[in-house]
Amino acid sequence: MKPKVIVTRRWPAEVEARLQEKYDVTLNASDHPMSVAEFKSALQTYDAVLTTVTDGMTPDAFEGLSLENVRTKIIGNYGVGFSHIDVSSAKRLNLTVTNTPDVLSECTADIAILLMLMAARRGGEGEREVRSGNWTGWRPTHMIGSKVSGGVFGVLGFGRIGREAAQRAMGFGMSIKVFNRSKVPSEVLQAFNAEQVGSINELAEAADFLSLHCPGGAENTHLINAEVLARMKPTGYIINTARGEVVDDVALVEALKNGVIAGAGLDVFQGEPAINPDLLTLDNVVLLPHLGSATSATREAMGFRVIENIDAFFNGSEPPDRVV
Ligand code: DGY
Repeated sequence: MKPKVIVTRRWPAEVEARLQEKYDVTLNASDHPMSVAEFKSALQTYDAVLTTVTDGMTPDAFEGLSLENVRTKIIGNYGVGFSHIDVSSAKRLNLTVTNTPDVLSECTADIAILLMLMAARRGGEGEREVRSGNWTGWRPTHMIGSKVSGGVFGVLGFGRIGREAAQRAMGFGMSIKVFNRSKVPSEVLQAFNAEQVGSINELAEAADFLSLHCPGGAENTHLINAEVLARMKPTGYIINTARGEVVDDVALVEALKNGVIAGAGLDVFQGEPAINPDLLTLDNVVLLPHLGSATSATREAMGFRVIENIDAFFNGSEPPDRVV
């Protein structure tokens, strides 16, 4: 008998088709975000639950479940970040959890650079002006932005995506400073001609663009807060393609309003798709709807990577991207 598998959101058609060849699959035809009750029932009905970032697999979704009544053996997450899955419940229920690293690093780094350029060169504002019919033509003092080339690119979290972003920033002649909890090997720092600094505050003081590439979750909630923002240059920018909760958005709004920093580019939001309404009123922030991995090549690769992981699991081997 084929293992029973549920996919919580729509995936690219090719990936859903491949999954259907191999497994007894339930798809989410309406692509609705599933409720806690649906997750709980899925964990009792399917051998594998294939989640993604929009799935709140919080402790409530596992409440009342025990080794006796849980059927699921593996949660195959479509995405690299898994802070939406309560890891201690997964461990209690002996669940394997996998993610999809590597395949989205390049495209997510591209979005970080897009946000940096848009925020610094006022791309969003400029487009709004043109579309609204308010553009009156070129003039020497019109919509002046900040120069990106040659600046300092600060990377918070020097993993795969952080390194891809740094690589791109080097193409703009930027110098790279890094904050990372563990020591980055010296040969890696050398390859980026990068300096690893000892604290987030030190990174904030040095960076013209402070780009966030750490995981989300409780440990990193509000790493960027009023104190860190106050350390930044008034000409500095925050770029967030990591997770919304890494930035205290109330403090960010204050900093953007009061000229504590020059601007921000955000692809992720705490509690998304809800957005702090004050952000919508500010012209010095660029807002994108979580587009980091949104290219067809990447979204397909993510799906195939989930399949690789569950194939390994059900064949009795170690899944390549096991995180729990
Ligand atoms: C991830 O993979 O964690 C992204 O945020 C969704 O692509």
